[in-house]
Amino acid sequence: MKFSWIRDISAVGFALFFTTHAQQPASSPEHPRLTTWECTISGGCTPHETSVVVDWDSHYIHEANGITPCLSLSGVDRTLCPNGTACARNCVIEPANYTNYGIVTSHDTITLSKYTRGDGSPRKGEPRVYLLGPDGDYMSLQLLGRELSFDVDVSALPCSENGNLYLSEMDMTGGRSEHNPGGARFGSGYCNAQCPVLNWVNGTLNENERGACCNEMDIFEGNAYATHYAAHPCVADECASAGCIFNPYMAGSRNFWGPGMEVDTAKPLTIITQFVTDDNTTSGMLVQIRRMYIQDGKVIPNVPAARDDGSCLHADNFSSSVGLSPIAQALARGMVMVLSLWSDPEHGMQWLDGGDAGPCDYWDDAAETQQPDPYLVFSNVRWGDIGSTYRHKIGFASSVSYKDEL
Ligand SMILES: *[C@@H]1O[C@H](CO)[C@@H](O)[C@H](O)[C@H]1NC(C)=O
Ligand SMILES: *[C@@H]1O[C@H](CO)[C@@H](O)[C@H](O)[C@H]1NC(C)=O
Ligand SMILES: *[C@@H]1O[C@H](CO)[C@@H](O)[C@H](O)[C@H]1NC(C)=O
Ligand SMILES: *[C@@H]1O[C@H](CO)[C@@H](O)[C@H](O)[C@H]1NC(C)=O
Ligand SMILES: *[C@@H]1O[C@H](CO)[C@@H](O)[C@H](O)[C@H]1NC(C)=O
Repeated sequence: MKFSWIRDISAVGFALFFTTHAQQPASSPEHPRLTTWECTISGGCTPHETSVVVDWDSHYIHEANGITPCLSLSGVDRTLCPNGTACARNCVIEPANYTNYGIVTSHDTITLSKYTRGDGSPRKGEPRVYLLGPDGDYMSLQLLGRELSFDVDVSALPCSENGNLYLSEMDMTGGRSEHNPGGARFGSGYCNAQCPVLNWVNGTLNENERGACCNEMDIFEGNAYATHYAAHPCVADECASAGCIFNPYMAGSRNFWGPGMEVDTAKPLTIITQFVTDDNTTSGMLVQIRRMYIQDGKVIPNVPAARDDGSCLHADNFSSSVGLSPIAQALARGMVMVLSLWSDPEHGMQWLDGGDAGPCDYWDDAAETQQPDPYLVFSNVRWGDIGSTYRHKIGFASSVSYKDEL
């Protein structure tokens, strides 16, 4: 994914005074619960008591014995944070208010909204959250030779909005350390293949403006009019920023994804992504990223251009030179699931939904007029053995063999 964040933290709200030190948690955070499942062919699916945590920068970080923000719209306060050690001593981090970021969960369903209207006037939510395990570390998704499936409703996401479900190879503890005792429970440790230069890295002040680079696998980026998936491999601190992209519209299938189309985005749908290895084991060589959809109990295979090798309709030079093996290794080690909703005022999201990539016009104002309250819903996130996560969707006992449908 392309990267551009402007965080509106000014309205996070002023909290009480606390007497803790060391960029510590000011109090214990409550995370919205989001049940997920892990499945096997032989044993079926069992639930994980997972939750979500919003990114570190969306937390209110302030002077330990006062209310001066250590991070505001104008950046990091250099008096409180001249260096990482001092910053950790002078600042505390508050639990986040999820409602204020447009994040609502219920059982296995999460809704992300662009705007929230807590006090009447709309304010940008544009949340980015990570899947947290019951132990307070991120949930490690090991997907090589396995699959991931989920339901998504993009019907209220117009052109120029981008809803995402992707994997980043973040540190599973969020880089928990002496300076960052809260770790993943406060959403620290973000990185992706755009190597963003963030204010904090692993919850410690980013003193040297270092980019936070890591392998990234975009399982889903899209809105009601366009979609793509993309692998962004990294080797050391060099990453494929455009990556190896597959987009059905770019492949010439212009009636595949959209309202009323073959995959009808006016209704909820299921997306399945399989990381197929040469020997069908979880340690083999990644030979295909296979995609299919389910809607109304019917399997919809990917567009014909993707039937053979499933991915990389367009690859940047770096992806072409390193291939998929860095991503395969990251998938085997374990990656963190990220869910987000954002828009890109500078580029209008044309790389996702305009030109060769989709039917949207640059900065489509009409879209926001039609849908003034963009949001998206993810639910039913499951991962596990290939073929194990979506049988219930197509009626396991029916005569339809999903293997024949591929
Ligand atoms: C960090 O900043 C503080 C306050 O300016 C200073 O006393 C300290 O020596 C600095 N520490 C390092 C490691 O630079
Ligand atoms: C979050 O903020 C809203 C409004 O700003 C407030 O009504 C609500 O009580 C807060 N929630 C928590 C858990 O503090
Ligand atoms: C965060 O910390 C982990 C563990 O020390 C490290 O491997 C990783 O590179 C760090 N992340 C960044 C973006 O520096
Ligand atoms: C892997 O599984 C596929 C589909 O079940 C099968 O066609 C193929 O022969 C298997 N490959 C190996 C090396 O076992
Ligand atoms: C990618 O490689 C091609 C062929 O070697 C070269 O012409 C092109 O300039 C390269 N593109 C970039 C962005 O480096």
